[in-house]
Amino acid sequence: MALVTGASSGIGEATALALAGEGAAVALAARRRDRLDGLAQKLSGDGGRVLVSETDVTDEEQAIAAVETTVEQLGRLDIVVNNAGLMLLGPIVGADTSEWTRMVELNVLGLMYVTAAALPHLLRAADEEPRQVSDLVNVSSVAGRVARLGSGAYNATKWAVNAFSEALRQEITERHVRVTLVEPGAVSTELAGHNRPEVLSALRSSLGDIERMEAEDIADAITYVVTRPRHVALNEVLIRPTEQVR
Ligand SMILES: NC(=O)c1ccc[n+]([C@@H]2O[C@H](COP(=O)([O-])OP(=O)(O)OC[C@H]3O[C@@H](n4cnc5c(N)ncnc54)[C@H](OP(=O)(O)O)[C@@H]3O)[C@@H](O)[C@H]2O)c1
Repeated sequence: MALVTGASSGIGEATALALAGEGAAVALAARRRDRLDGLAQKLSGDGGRVLVSETDVTDEEQAIAAVETTVEQLGRLDIVVNNAGLMLLGPIVGADTSEWTRMVELNVLGLMYVTAAALPHLLRAADEEPRQVSDLVNVSSVAGRVARLGSGAYNATKWAVNAFSEALRQEITERHVRVTLVEPGAVSTELAGHNRPEVLSALRSSLGDIERMEAEDIADAITYVVTRPRHVALNEVLIRPTEQVR
């Protein structure tokens, strides 16, 4: 039973589809209900068990409710993909700090709220459920490992995700809850589209005309991570388009 945040588009949507394709029941969490309903229809049409959870993960009560409803409706929780995220780029000098607030609230705190709510269920699943292992997959970024001019605040949020995930991994890995960081490079999704036009054109010129990955490429990596045998834990998956240099 899997919970995927940010399942209404991009990597989250592709991951929900991929996990359902492996036979998982999937809870879809994000704010855009219409998009989640459309995906749920497709998944249940293909014979899958699916739950729609209209959730703003920056609100701790909603994050908790998403987790608890998943457990109530699907019976248990043994995979969580913390994928919801926002990337607002631009210089630090003169920044609109409300953009920083939005990113910290979503990329860091939202992920932490979902994690805190899910951990008791993941620990129980690892103890009692048939797989005897459970998975927390946190979607970070190359930006969690490589700082870039014009990406300081986004870098800071993804660095935080990496630090939190590694500390948590050390805390719970012996209890068979695997914590995995997935760190994509450029993927063709809606993510960059939330930026101001001048930031967007700076991003395009810094990355160049490279062939980007598709959301399905990351979903494929996440599926690989959560389908390893119990004794194998992929701690980090850094995955760039072949043509992306940094
Ligand atoms: N695309 C890339 O190049 C790239 C590279 C590295 C890492 N990543 C990471 O991959 C993750 C997914 O991004 P994406 O590329 O798939 O972009 P995306 O298509 O923009 O997806 C972002 C998802 O987050 C959800 N979301 C936003 N605010 C939310 C909130 N408050 N509560 C719950 N859900 C919320 C959005 O749904 P709603 O708007 O419906 O809530 C959407 O489903 C992010 O963490 C991003 O940092 C992406």
